[in-house]
Amino acid sequence: MEYLVYLSTAQKLMDQNDLLDILTASRYNNIRHNLTGMLLYGEGTFIQLLEGDPETLKQTYQTIEADSRHHNIIKMAQGEITERYFPEWAMGFKSANATELAEFKGYINPDNKSFLQQGDTDAIIGMLKTFADVNRM
Ligand SMILES: Cc1cc2nc3c(=O)[nH]c(=O)nc-3n(C[C@H](O)[C@H](O)[C@H](O)COP(=O)(O)O)c2cc1C
Repeated sequence: MEYLVYLSTAQKLMDQNDLLDILTASRYNNIRHNLTGMLLYGEGTFIQLLEGDPETLKQTYQTIEADSRHHNIIKMAQGEITERYFPEWAMGFKSANATELAEFKGYINPDNKSFLQQGDTDAIIGMLKTFADVNRM
């Protein structure tokens, strides 16, 4: 099994309906594809962790990358896992405030945007897990 984390910029500021559209389609598709994960949105930025079978993950990621609702998609981390981080979430969701987002963005090195250090990945996943546990939407 594999996971990946990416960050992207929304094409416009998303309202509740825009986010629900994304979440509804994501959950419907991810259940069929046995993918799980967590999506965070705030201040025009998305951060998403997706996990599952590598081939399925790759295909879904390609679909997501091609989605015109966001751009500047940066893959921040990717790796093999034996256990899912979000086994109960076809796609967890949290709307983040500016402070919470700044914390995530603090992990992105402007000189090397693509990949996080292992400790950073752990911290990011830790934050996402905290959000998933307190926000059951
Ligand atoms: C920020 C963001 C996250 C998304 N996450 C997922 C996802 O986890 N799974 C998924 O299938 N589609 C996701 N999508 C939607 C896909 O880009 C695409 O619209 C959808 O998979 C197409 O589904 P359909 O062929 O059933 O219409 C996401 C889109 C955005 C903008």
